[in-house]
Amino acid sequence: MLQEARTQIQQAGNLEALQTVKTHYLGKNGEVTRQLKSLGALSPEERKVKGQEINLLKQEIDGLISAREAELKEAALQAKLASEAIDVTLPALSLPSGGLHIITRILDDLSDIFTRMGYNVVEGNEMEDDAYNFQHLNIPWYHPARDLWDTFWLKDGRLLRTHTSPMQIRYMLEHSAPLKIVVPGKVYRYEATDATHESMFHQLEGLVVGDNISMADLKGTIAELARGLFGPKAKVRFQPSFYPFVEPGADFAVWWENPRGESKWLELGGCGMVHPNVFKAVDDLREQRGLPRMYEGKTGFAFGLGPERIAMLKYGMPDIRYFYANDLRVLGQFKGELQ
Ligand code: DAH
Repeated sequence: MLQEARTQIQQAGNLEALQTVKTHYLGKNGEVTRQLKSLGALSPEERKVKGQEINLLKQEIDGLISAREAELKEAALQAKLASEAIDVTLPALSLPSGGLHIITRILDDLSDIFTRMGYNVVEGNEMEDDAYNFQHLNIPWYHPARDLWDTFWLKDGRLLRTHTSPMQIRYMLEHSAPLKIVVPGKVYRYEATDATHESMFHQLEGLVVGDNISMADLKGTIAELARGLFGPKAKVRFQPSFYPFVEPGADFAVWWENPRGESKWLELGGCGMVHPNVFKAVDDLREQRGLPRMYEGKTGFAFGLGPERIAMLKYGMPDIRYFYANDLRVLGQFKGELQ
């Protein structure tokens, strides 16, 4: 029986099969168990001899089963490990990675350039009141210059800001001069869209107020901006223009030679010396709030520019609408190092 058991145990290929063999010999009705039960029919002397023999047999079979069980378990573990093995020499799977939007990156770069010049970066709300978007900026309701800013009106009489300039007023209301701020953010225009017009785009507003601030300071600042954006060879050009909140007002362009060997003037934005009516509007508001008048008699300059224009020129983007069409073939090109 031991011989036969040994063969069967050895041949059991898995734990279930081994269990069947175990039951066959050592179970309640197993071969060995039955032999043990039959001892009762023997004489005491025979029982002693036979009993020892059967117990030895039982121990032997038990030991063989335990050994085989350990063997099978080890084999199963090895198989499991082998199936889970990782080949570290295989090339890694490439997971899609996100990135900041190109316009966000340009606004961040602009903010860095101005932070280095000591400016604070502040943001305003995209919903505005007529008073802040227009009136306090020296644009009364009847002023024809309102046509420059086609406006989305909200049902409650407010509007989506058409430029970042309202933050000039809001900031001066709550802070004293001297001050230097830039305001990056989204603006909205109720306009037909085409390759160079979107109904939502971005601006970076700048405002500097202090004593004896001059047009020369403004020009130096814009020149520094141009160099920060396009390198030491960049040049700037100013030409007279009109914005109700500045006097004199100007448009500025930046000359730059790009890596493709082209050189161009890029019309970047508007600027000028803060209009006295703007300072007066701020002081009137401050007075209403019980704050000291402090802006009349100050001097300052302001500017506003469009990051989309920078991106379009710098990267040869032919249509402003590509920025917001969520096409990863376009946006995915701007994830790495920017040139
Ligand atoms: N807010 C003007 C616009 O949206 C841009 C601008 C022009 C801003 C002159 C200024 C400025 O601060 O001085 O067209």
